[in-house]
Amino acid sequence: MDIIVSKDLKKKFKLKHGQQVNNNGVISNEIEVLDGFDLKIKKGEFLVLVGPSGSGKSVFLDIVGGLSAPTSGVVYLDDKVIEAPSAKTGYVFQQYALFPWRTALSNIEFGLESRGVPPEERVQTARELLAIFGLSDFEDRFPYQLSGGMQQRVAIARALATKPEVLLMDEPFAALDAQTREILQNELIRIWEGTDTTVIFVTHSIDEAVFLADRVAVVTARPGQVKDIIEIDLPRPRDGDVRSSNEFAANRHKVWDALKAEVNKAQQDWKLAPGFAG
Ligand SMILES: Nc1ncnc2c1ncn2[C@@H]1O[C@H](COP(=O)(O)OP(=O)(O)OP(=O)(O)O)[C@@H](O)[C@H]1O
Ligand SMILES: [Mg+2]
Repeated sequence: MDIIVSKDLKKKFKLKHGQQVNNNGVISNEIEVLDGFDLKIKKGEFLVLVGPSGSGKSVFLDIVGGLSAPTSGVVYLDDKVIEAPSAKTGYVFQQYALFPWRTALSNIEFGLESRGVPPEERVQTARELLAIFGLSDFEDRFPYQLSGGMQQRVAIARALATKPEVLLMDEPFAALDAQTREILQNELIRIWEGTDTTVIFVTHSIDEAVFLADRVAVVTARPGQVKDIIEIDLPRPRDGDVRSSNEFAANRHKVWDALKAEVNKAQQDWKLAPGFAG
């Protein structure tokens, strides 16, 4: 069953007076970001989006999250058109978006508070999540007292606390060092494999995409469309060791094969951009 369906989705932004952009050779004051972005996401799957920088991945996530409206076309969540943020959806951003004045525990409680969950139950849920992420000793710490990896764990725990049906993750590990990043990927996949949450995850790392995904959707250079969908045929549950297998390398190769032409095209487009002096 499909939980999210994006149909002929288009998104343009009007630029400010005097600003210009090259849309496939046509100079315009409106930037075409998505143009016929079609994608069906199955309930409970882990779908990863990869694509060149500026191809509209974050804009797509904003539309799925109900934070931005399409110019035309439609996205359905559970057969209903997405028109506003939904309680069914959680969001984890690239930058740690924790509330600096709240402790780790009370950051995780946040979404439960706004849903009217009683305090004892909130604390219990938040403590369970802290334990899952190995942060039980840090529940009373404020974000500035936590490392980047710990902050991002809290951000993921906060998003999971409300048991979202759909979790949107926009480069959540991009700011972390390589080792912490692998550890968090391992933790995320272990936790997700025990849920029926649908995840849409954006990354620039092909290794991360292959390790996490059921399917990888490759987005074209702007205006973004889904160019290819690659099924990742690695067994689950997955652990870190799978990264060194031949099957992993074969999947990585498939994704890069589909992606490289788009990355090259995006670079060409930058050179064609009005005002580019290189
Ligand atoms: N509010 C806006 N007004 C004008 N242009 C915008 C706006 N938001 C996004 N864009 C443009 O839309 C395009 C796609 O942006 P988006 O952030 O979705 O890219 P992305 O694929 O997430 O890139 P990255 O991988 O670098 O995060 C970019 O060219 C960006 O400049
Ligand atoms: Mg982005």
